[in-house]
Amino acid sequence: MKPLIRWVGGKYHQPNVIEIVRDCYARHGGSWIEPFCGGLGMALQINPDRAILSDLNRHLIDFYRGVQEGGSFCQVGEYYELRSLFNKHALEGRYVPPNYFWNLQSRSHNGIWRENASGAFNVPEGRSKDGIPRGCPEVDWSAYQELLMKWEFQCQSYEELAPPSGSFLYLDPPYDEVYSKYQKGDFYWEDQVKLVEWAIASNCTFVISNSASDRIVELYRSHGLTIHEVVEKRNVRAKGDRTANALVAVKEF
Ligand SMILES: C[S@@+](CC[C@H](N)C(=O)[O-])C[C@H]1O[C@@H](n2cnc3c(N)ncnc32)[C@H](O)[C@@H]1O
Repeated sequence: MKPLIRWVGGKYHQPNVIEIVRDCYARHGGSWIEPFCGGLGMALQINPDRAILSDLNRHLIDFYRGVQEGGSFCQVGEYYELRSLFNKHALEGRYVPPNYFWNLQSRSHNGIWRENASGAFNVPEGRSKDGIPRGCPEVDWSAYQELLMKWEFQCQSYEELAPPSGSFLYLDPPYDEVYSKYQKGDFYWEDQVKLVEWAIASNCTFVISNSASDRIVELYRSHGLTIHEVVEKRNVRAKGDRTANALVAVKEF
């Protein structure tokens, strides 16, 4: 199934990455644990029976829980009024209905989610060439509800997860040296280093995707990971440019 929402760094359109993860998971099996689940681009392709899907973005996780619970999703309010209300509630740490997230995400410019340094959603309203505001698309949520009910959703930073032994980890952190703004805070170089150390300490087989920066290649090689270089669509600038710009690294236990 297609992802429910568009999400920066989503893997749904990256067949090269999906193929490597699928092969490795087919060989290994076990509970699927995905601490950077984002838009579910990989989970929806692999479709594991048991899974813990987690992400630091609480609005995203509340949205998936809302779909699991069969909540109602429909267009509400004027975009900028809704955005102000959403940010007021979110910045005060109050619960924000998942329908607000869905409205803002799907009606925003390019249909993306981006937060500023203080955690406020800051994408302008999306409009057609004729200046007509974007509306929410019609979605049959019942099909997604049935699928998402199989899985457990959690909201936390990856290092708070304690994967049971024998689990399979798919790790898709914010890419090294690629700009992304999923929520306040950022993923720095020291986080990339801590992540690979955390994954090795888990004693679980894991697959990690990332940009193919020189320092990421060096980091993963020095920790004994097997590296597959891949071409991701995001950076294929012109026809014929097939330079590897990403990698998928594997460590089997
Ligand atoms: C590359 S995206 C994942 C994309 C996802 N695989 C998909 O197909 O849509 C990276 C995700 O990591 C999340 N993230 C950033 N820092 C995190 C952290 N410390 N712990 C857990 N998730 C984090 C972001 O919110 C974002 O959703």
